[in-house]
Amino acid sequence: MKKYLVIGNPIEHSLSPELHNYWIKEYKINAEYNKKKLDSNDLKDLIFKIKKKEISGVNVTVPFKKKVISFLDELTFDAETTQSVNTIYLKDNKTIGHNTDISGFESAIKSTNYKIMEKKILILGAGGVVSSIIFALLKMKVSSITLTNRTKAKAEFLKTFFDKKIDNNNIEIVDWGKIPEFDMVINATSVGLKKDDQIDLDFSKISSNKFFYDVIYNPRETKFLKEAKEHGNKIENGKKMFIFQAAEAFKIWHGIEVKMNGKLDNILKDD
Ligand code: ATR
Repeated sequence: MKKYLVIGNPIEHSLSPELHNYWIKEYKINAEYNKKKLDSNDLKDLIFKIKKKEISGVNVTVPFKKKVISFLDELTFDAETTQSVNTIYLKDNKTIGHNTDISGFESAIKSTNYKIMEKKILILGAGGVVSSIIFALLKMKVSSITLTNRTKAKAEFLKTFFDKKIDNNNIEIVDWGKIPEFDMVINATSVGLKKDDQIDLDFSKISSNKFFYDVIYNPRETKFLKEAKEHGNKIENGKKMFIFQAAEAFKIWHGIEVKMNGKLDNILKDD
């Protein structure tokens, strides 16, 4: 039986096993997918297990998406560009790091039918997932990306990082607390994971025809989304991104393009 894992710290909250094991069963694959809490010191041994074919594939989550890179033989273009790995597999005896968060985000946005091209995007936060979101937004040809983060230096790091990689990227930074003009705002902070969490930004004076996106999917409706909806804006949580990034990892490992269906909602119960 092939073994697959999601690694992170903490890891209890991860719903990846539910999703992957559902598809494993659905497509009658002889495999199992588990979660494992790790420390940084364990990464090297774990990657070696992939090389020894004791483990067939690994998903990587917070806080190891960048840290894991130094233990891998090769990165795909997407992983290299974002310096972020969430999916590992073995190819020609080499451990390969890939990033399915990018296409996961892209597919999620496409599935909402939002016309993102030429839109002005505001991103709240500068943590692990933001480089993937920025790269996906640039691929989808948005007109500008403004980053704002409580710790400004982390937003500046991301801007410098992309300025070196991609010409004319139109990435700007504003101080935390200032809200520039935007069409779509993305919450990529961890604020909202706890039900009563509230971002200390005031969106109440923003007109009502904007798109509010939250990377968080559990809870299903953060205060950020709830208030945006009350003000008449379009909203979307991170569940589709989560499902699509998992689907791409599944395709890489098992060669199967999964069908999306309503049952997934029941599997990924929240609240
Ligand atoms: P990491 O920063 O280790 O990659 P993350 O969970 O991916 O972790 O990112 C957390 C994000 O949420 C960061 O942008 C963080 O801001 P800081 O860089 O200032 O820490 C943001 N964040 C967490 N708590 C926050 C809060 N109370 N208000 C605003 N932003 C917050």
